[in-house]
Amino acid sequence: MDMDIGVIGIGRMGRAIIKGFISGGIDPKKIYVYDVSPMAIESIRGMGVNICSSNIEVVRSSNLVILAVKPSQVRGVAEDISRYVDGKIVISIAAFIQLKMLEKILSGARIYRVMPNIGVEVNTGFIAITPPSAMDSNIDRLFRLLGEVVWVDEDVLDLLTLMSASTPALIAEIADALILASLKAGIPYDIAKKATAHVLQGVGKLLLYRDTSSIRDSVITPRGTTIELIERIYTEEAKSRLLSALIKTIEKYLELLEKYKSGS
Ligand SMILES: NC(=O)c1ccc[n+]([C@@H]2O[C@H](COP(=O)([O-])OP(=O)(O)OC[C@H]3O[C@@H](n4cnc5c(N)ncnc54)[C@H](OP(=O)(O)O)[C@@H]3O)[C@@H](O)[C@H]2O)c1
Repeated sequence: MDMDIGVIGIGRMGRAIIKGFISGGIDPKKIYVYDVSPMAIESIRGMGVNICSSNIEVVRSSNLVILAVKPSQVRGVAEDISRYVDGKIVISIAAFIQLKMLEKILSGARIYRVMPNIGVEVNTGFIAITPPSAMDSNIDRLFRLLGEVVWVDEDVLDLLTLMSASTPALIAEIADALILASLKAGIPYDIAKKATAHVLQGVGKLLLYRDTSSIRDSVITPRGTTIELIERIYTEEAKSRLLSALIKTIEKYLELLEKYKSGS
């Protein structure tokens, strides 16, 4: 893939994407980065990428530029680089920020939105890209280095922002509960953490071709300990409370999204 890739903003997600690209086979010398934070620059120095002295230098050096700054910072960055993006591909990974707003400011560029999740750091991310009407095989191939890619309409990408980009935090909390319970049972921390990681990974892989109920029913034996655990999940309302927390968060997220949409 002969592309010079720019990354503006090398915070948590910018860095995860760069790490994923490099371990996926992209030559670090083909990556150009800039961040206003000297600490962020320091954190990436050892990776062998080109460190630029401005966002404009990143854009001038690249064919494809990824905007990885916070949603509130996207407009300012887009305005700064707008005179230099003609004929280039500009990709925003920001939550909320709509294609319409980006297209207005970056009118000479081909604009995409990509919604990754933190799994990209280990090339096992879930990555939504829009708009599907402008599907591009080079962009598809590039992001497939980071994990599974789906091309979806923008409204679906906005929902995945919550359901696949934010949910690793929830899964980490569930993993934490499993590790704590393992410790309580007497399993050493390293083993508990490794077991939890592999349980999640195994269920994730199974889920690609089996349903949740089929996985559950393969583990349960009549009158065994697993059915007792599952029974408690229902009688102690742990599952319905989790669902309720998710639904309330979705409602709040949709209100916020509407505010962004009406402002763009
Ligand atoms: N984290 C996730 O899991 C995740 C998942 C999907 C999508 N995203 C999206 O990814 C974007 C970045 O998120 P993040 O979690 O990586 O945020 P972050 O850690 O705050 O990183 C953003 C970086 O951009 C820098 N920056 C600010 N203004 C800049 C400018 N004008 N030019 C260059 N760099 C600038 C920030 O520096 P300062 O700190 O000094 O401002 C910071 O180092 C967000 O839009 C978010 O919606 C994040």
